[in-house]
Amino acid sequence: MYFIGVDLGTSSVKILVMDQEGQIISTVTKDYPLFFPKALWSEQNPQDWLEQSLLGIKEALNGLDANAVGGIGYSGQMHGLVILDEHDNVIRPAILWNDQRSVKETNYLNEEIGIEKLTELTGNIAFPGFTAPKLLWVKENEPENFKKIKKVMLPKDYLAYKMTGAFATDFADASGALYLDVANKKWSQGMLDIIGIEESVLPKLYESYENIGSLSKEVSDYLGIHHEIAVAIGSGDQACAAVGGGVVSPGCCSISLGTSGVVFVHSDTFIKDPNNGLHAFAHANGAYHLMGCMLSAAGSLKWWVEEILKSNDYNRLMDAAKEAPLDNGLYFLPYLMGERSPHNDPNARGVFWGLNLSHGQGDMTRAVIEGVSFGLRDSFEIVKSLGQEMTEIRINGGGSKNEFWCQTIANILDTKVVKLETDAGPAYGAAILAAVSAGAYPSVKVACDQLIKTTESYQPIPQLVDAYNRKYNSFSKLYPALKALFPEIE
Ligand code: XUL
Repeated sequence: MYFIGVDLGTSSVKILVMDQEGQIISTVTKDYPLFFPKALWSEQNPQDWLEQSLLGIKEALNGLDANAVGGIGYSGQMHGLVILDEHDNVIRPAILWNDQRSVKETNYLNEEIGIEKLTELTGNIAFPGFTAPKLLWVKENEPENFKKIKKVMLPKDYLAYKMTGAFATDFADASGALYLDVANKKWSQGMLDIIGIEESVLPKLYESYENIGSLSKEVSDYLGIHHEIAVAIGSGDQACAAVGGGVVSPGCCSISLGTSGVVFVHSDTFIKDPNNGLHAFAHANGAYHLMGCMLSAAGSLKWWVEEILKSNDYNRLMDAAKEAPLDNGLYFLPYLMGERSPHNDPNARGVFWGLNLSHGQGDMTRAVIEGVSFGLRDSFEIVKSLGQEMTEIRINGGGSKNEFWCQTIANILDTKVVKLETDAGPAYGAAILAAVSAGAYPSVKVACDQLIKTTESYQPIPQLVDAYNRKYNSFSKLYPALKALFPEIE
C-alpha cells in the first residue's frame, strides 16, 4: 500500500510516495511564485498551491498502481493567513509566515493586551509571522476584506479543504496561529474576542493523524485514485519534520540546519517557557513540543560562503574552519535577519567580534559555524532549564551534510548527535501521518519506531565540551551588550 505526503513549502510543494515499509517510491517537486509586493511583505496565491500540488501528485503516481494508494497527509508552511468569502473564494493573496508587515499589531498584542494575558490564553506571545497579528492587520488596513471573511485557514488546510471539502486543521499547526488555547486544545475565545472573529469562521480541530474525510469526486477522478482513501490533516512543516525524524518520545529532540535553524523538543505534557523564548505548541503525535526557531542558520553559512567569499567550495572552507584553532578569540552573532528564538528581536544584526590580523578565512568560517551552533544552544539551554533531559539530537537539513558541523554541535550542546537514514523532511512525516490515519500503524510512535532508522552518530568530546563551555560563556555576553545599540544601525 502507498501513502502520499504533501509538503506545501514556501517556494515549492514536495510530494512523496512511501510504501508501508517506509521506502520512498517517488518524489516530485513543483514550484510556484512568491510575491513581495512591498518591502517586508510576502504573499502567495493559494490557487497556485492547489494546481501545483494536484499536478505533482499525479506525476508522483505515474507508473504506480493508483488502487494501492491508502492515504494522503499534508504538511505545510506554518502561520500563513488564508481567508475565504461566502462563496469560498480567496479574498486576498495568502500572507505568509515570513511576512513582517504586522509589527504594529504584534506590538499591540504583546504590549497593550500584554504578554501575560497572551500567554495565559494561548501559551505563547505574538510574532509578526504568526496568524493573529495578520488578521488584525487585515482588519485595520483592509476593512472591506475583513468584513467578507467566512473562513480562516492555514496554508495546508486550504489544500485539504479544496481536495476533500473538509474544513479542518490540526492542533500543532493551529498552535502557531496564536488563537488556539494550546494547553487545552481548543480555540481561545479570549483571543477571538481580541481579534474580532467568530469561532464559526475557524476549522474543526483534529489530531494530525486523524482521518478528516475522503477525497472529493472531482479530485479523485483527476488523480485516478479511489476517493475513499484516508486523509490525515497532517500538520505544520516543523511538526511533520519531527515525525519524519522520529522525534516522538521524551528525551528526543531534533535540530534542523536549513536556511533557518530549528530546535524541536518532544514533551509528553504541555510546558511553556516562562520567558517566551521558545514556542509552546502541540505536536503532531498527540503530545506537545517546544520549539526554538533561529532565522539564519545554514543561511548564515550560505551568505558567508557564497555572497561574501564568492565561493561554492564548501568542503575546502569547512576543512579550513576545522584547522582554525578553537581558542581564536573570534565570535559571530548570526542575526542577519534579526532573531526569533530566543531573543525575539527584529533589530538584532550579524556581528563578527574579536577580529585581529592573525585571523583568516578558516577562522571566520569557523566563527560562523560556531555562532550558529551557539544560537541553537541558546534555545537548548532554555529546554534544559525547564527540566527536559535530552539524550539525543536528530539532525537534518542541508547543514547536517557536513561532519565538522555535526561534531561541533555535539560538542557545543554536549549531547549525542545522530543522522537519519532517510532525511526526507516534512513530506515523509506527512506520509507517516497518512499511514497512521489509514490504520496501517496503531500510533505515530509505533510507525516511527518501525520506519525510522538512524545512521552516523557524533559523541561529544569532553575536552572540547569544556573549551566550548568557556567560549559560549563569552558568546552569551555579546547580545545583551549590543542589544540597545542595534536599533541605532537603521
Ligand atoms: C515555523 C516557521 C517555519 C515555517 C516555514 O514556526 O515559521 O518553519 O513553517 O517553513
